[in-house]
Order: sequence, then structure tokens, then C-alpha cells
Amino acid sequence: MIPSVEQCLRLMDDYRMPEHIRAHSIMVTKVARVISHSLNARGARLSLDKITAGALLHDIGKHQALEYGGDHVKIGQRICLERGMPEIAEIVEQHVILKPETFDAPFSEIQVIYYSDKRVNHHRVVSLEERLEYILDRYGTKGPDISEAIKKNFEVCKELEQRIFEVLEFEPSELAVLAGRERIGGGS
Ligand SMILES: [Fe+2]
Repeated sequence: MIPSVEQCLRLMDDYRMPEHIRAHSIMVTKVARVISHSLNARGARLSLDKITAGALLHDIGKHQALEYGGDHVKIGQRICLERGMPEIAEIVEQHVILKPETFDAPFSEIQVIYYSDKRVNHHRVVSLEERLEYILDRYGTKGPDISEAIKKNFEVCKELEQRIFEVLEFEPSELAVLAGRERIGGGS
């Protein structure tokens, strides 16, 4: 099942998503929708409903993780499976790190949400480099292995960015303005 925007907002309430994570998720949704409209206009076949629900719910496990500990990715994945949303669970599962086979595959909702999440810091659209800096500041202090893994993941993301923007008619730096005009409902 792919939930509607209303159902996603209700799920955010049910799982007590903090306000700042909601604002982040809404901006990630706008970014992902802008990219998807444009990829679809160039032959991709992305579902806007799936993009919207996946982006709205990608951090659905955050409250439980912050409150009781655990990995917000695994928690979010489990929540989506329990609520009968296996397609969304897959997106949640790979929003931090893509599986290599997902990276190699043609454009997918999972790739677009993985990329879009890395372009939004709190609720602001930023460059990948800015987001990397923030993540390294916040999590990189946990050890050299962690900071290496973060940098490697961003290289993957940079490659995906190049692949996406080879196709699109606008530049990565134009996303902030375009996302500001985007709405989160409609257009499957
Ligand atoms: Fe997340």
C-alpha cells in the first residue's frame, strides 16, 4: 500500500515525529518531487505517490530511536512493514545507504529519496558538500572509521548526483528555488 499525504501526516502523529523532523521530511519531499517530475519528463517512470509517501515517511523511526535508542532506519523499516507498506519500507531501509544493486539500477524512487535527503539540512536545501560537513561534524567525531564511511557514502551520492543531473535541465544549485515552489500533494 502507498499511503496518501493525509495518511502519511497521520502516521507522523501516530509515531510522534518531532516538529523539526516533519519540516525536514516535507522539504525532502519537495526536493524529491521536483527531481522526479523532471526525470519523468525525460523518460523515467517514477511514481509521484511513492516518492511523496517515501519522502514524508523516510524518518518515521526517528522518535523511537531518539527516545529509546536503536537505529532509526531499522525502526522505520519495521514500522512500515507492520503497517502493510513494503514498498515504503524498502525506501526507508535505503535512505541512508544505498545497496550497490540499487545504485546500479535505472532511476528509482529509492535513489531519488536517498539523494534528496542528503540535499536537505534541517529544512533547508543545501549542497551535498554542506550536508557532508554537517554530518561529519555531528557523527564523524565517533571515530576515524565512521568518518571514512560517511565520506565514502557521500562519494556514492556525488556520483548519483552526476548521473541525475546529466539528464535534468537544471543544475543542482537551482533545487532550492524549485523546491520552494513545489507542493507535496497530487500528480501521480
Ligand atoms: Fe533519516
